[in-house]
Amino acid sequence: MSLVLVTGAAGRIGTVLRGGLPERGWALRCLDVVPIADVRPGEEQFVADATDLAAMTDAAQGASAIAHMAGISGESTWPTIRNANIDGTYCALEAARQAGVPRVVLASSNHASGYTERPDGGGLLREADAPPRPDTYYGVSKVTMEALGSLYAERYGLDVVCLRIGSAFPEPTTTRQLSTWLSPDDTVSLVHAALTAPAPGFRVVWGVSDNTRRWWDLTAARELGYEPADDAEVYAEALIEAHGEPDLSDPVHRRVGGEYTTADFDAENFPA
Ligand SMILES: NC(=O)c1ccc[n+]([C@@H]2O[C@H](COP(=O)([O-])OP(=O)(O)OC[C@H]3O[C@@H](n4cnc5c(N)ncnc54)[C@H](O)[C@@H]3O)[C@@H](O)[C@H]2O)c1
Repeated sequence: MSLVLVTGAAGRIGTVLRGGLPERGWALRCLDVVPIADVRPGEEQFVADATDLAAMTDAAQGASAIAHMAGISGESTWPTIRNANIDGTYCALEAARQAGVPRVVLASSNHASGYTERPDGGGLLREADAPPRPDTYYGVSKVTMEALGSLYAERYGLDVVCLRIGSAFPEPTTTRQLSTWLSPDDTVSLVHAALTAPAPGFRVVWGVSDNTRRWWDLTAARELGYEPADDAEVYAEALIEAHGEPDLSDPVHRRVGGEYTTADFDAENFPA
């Protein structure tokens, strides 16, 4: 069994990975700044801050890969974002380098390119056509994550796969998420693919399920071996009945980052 260090293991995605990765042959070492309530048989647990380089390097010893999920998972103040998301990502990559871990999977986000719009005339948006256009300080931290990943891949030869995750929740709860949902099973499938693809080098791929209303191209993720199984469309009738048919001219549906691109998401609205 290969050992993977999962940071942010107590969070939503971390919990999903703890459920699904062992079935795919991974032994889990879990790290989070808060203790995991229900440590499972066979799991190792580290309670540590991802910005503590010594602790991260210690936790990375002997691992085949790091799946770095720890961080602030939405908009916040600049100091909060900078510390957890930017310093934390630096520590994950530097710990991998120092501990000789060859691969790091990074939880990037659609908000790294939040202001990018739907392609004219419909069609699917490739990652290559979605350059850094962060919609928030949170989005800036994901652009920086991808930049740090690129640096560590090019300079130190690490394999670094950045997942631009859409909406990773148990089920979609808004009509936007009919396009952007990443189901729990597909989250496991995507992270497993990113952990096992032969010699990926540096990659940035969208992380969404095979949603009927998806407009982010999955070719690059599929090249890693990702095989999405779910489609948010099964929730469409109920969500449209509750919220109405999506207006595709609304920024919420027109831009990659959805509501994060609106005035409500100014950082000053987010307390420390
Ligand atoms: N859920 C989504 O839809 C989504 C979408 C795009 C990107 N992401 C990214 O995926 C990652 C995981 O998201 P999530 O939904 O599980 O978020 P979450 O908030 O549920 O979990 C994040 C976890 O990270 C831990 N954490 C925060 N700061 C830490 C630190 N300094 N050191 C150690 N642990 C720390 C928290 O305690 C928490 O358990 C985040 O980086 C997030 O930005 C999530």
